[in-house]
Amino acid sequence: MDKDKVQIFDTTLRDGEQVPGCKLDTEQKLVIAARLDELGVDVIEAGFPISSPGDFQSVQEIAKLVKNATVCGLTRAVKKDIEVAAEAIRLAAKPRIHTGIGTSESHIQFKFNSTREKILERAVEAVKYAKTFVDDVEFYAEDAGRTDNEFLARVCEAVIKAGATVLNIPDTTGYCLPEEYGAKMKYLKENVTGIEKAVLSCHCHNDLGLATANSIAGVKNGARQIECTINGIGERAGNTSLEEVVMILRQHPYLNLDTDIDSTLLYDTSQMVSQKMGMPVQPNKAIVGSNAFAHSSGIHQDGVIKQRETYEIIDPKDVGVSQSSIVLTARSGRAALAYRAKNVGYELTKLQLDVVYDTFLKYADRQKEIFDEDIHKIMETSKLGIGNIA
Ligand code: KIV
Ligand code: ZN
Repeated sequence: MDKDKVQIFDTTLRDGEQVPGCKLDTEQKLVIAARLDELGVDVIEAGFPISSPGDFQSVQEIAKLVKNATVCGLTRAVKKDIEVAAEAIRLAAKPRIHTGIGTSESHIQFKFNSTREKILERAVEAVKYAKTFVDDVEFYAEDAGRTDNEFLARVCEAVIKAGATVLNIPDTTGYCLPEEYGAKMKYLKENVTGIEKAVLSCHCHNDLGLATANSIAGVKNGARQIECTINGIGERAGNTSLEEVVMILRQHPYLNLDTDIDSTLLYDTSQMVSQKMGMPVQPNKAIVGSNAFAHSSGIHQDGVIKQRETYEIIDPKDVGVSQSSIVLTARSGRAALAYRAKNVGYELTKLQLDVVYDTFLKYADRQKEIFDEDIHKIMETSKLGIGNIA
């Protein structure tokens, strides 16, 4: 059966770049945008053009550069924002305006001091105005995660009538549980007249560590776009991580969902974004962290050396990592030591391994990790006798 395609909407250069300390100049943004296009994302949210002349320029340059992906500019439901975004993306091969407004009670009362009816009117006006510039208009119902489903459905129905092509349902505060977020998508699919004319989109924040799980729940319930960032960077605890959702869909083929992402570019892209933004990737980050394919306990190492799949569900080559690594620490066993020693030229008999392993443990108890150069020293020391290293 043919798989349904989930569109990947990358917002590294907008929601990701909002993070303090992650600001990029136009040149850096262009390099990342070119890579995102090569990676195969469907939409690049290039920035928030009204926010600063620098961001306007970046969006404009990205719009000219990008060959395949749709280039999108963010706006509030404000005429001037929409005009500026329209100008910034004018030269894109596939331009999109992303406009919207808060729909939760908290946003309506405290942010806008307004009413549901007035918010609904502003949403419709913004979409209609954006449509005078481009065909492709995405509407976001900010804080949809905490918006009552009935009102959210009314807003969605009204903006579809006004011409919205994509409905973004952001869990802006990262509050939803996966079943709740999935149920929200299902509710909209079943209760919004005209929903077949628009694509539902997941935009999840990671305040409770649920952004990826929520996005997957969203597509399992009918959404067909996921908004995400490289390395999951973004406001506060971040956004859904692109590499995670792409690999989840790929590793679970029975979901019958896939993306057009070239996963072999994931590791390199993660490194590029991390370096340009000066934002290190946590070592235990799924898919792209330095420990994602590293094995350090003896039991796991023994298994992986015999058959990689015993402790790995992804072939590292599929995400652009050349091979799994067997890390030597005081928790490593003989199999790992023999494997690493062989890699640097020592083929050990069982008896030799017993001797060398004792020396190894003495070294390993003194330092966090044993590297190739230490293996040579361990071999030397072992020949001299175990007591000599103290
Ligand atoms: O998190 C959010 O609600 C957003 C919108 C502006 C799309 O980033
Ligand atoms: Zn966001």
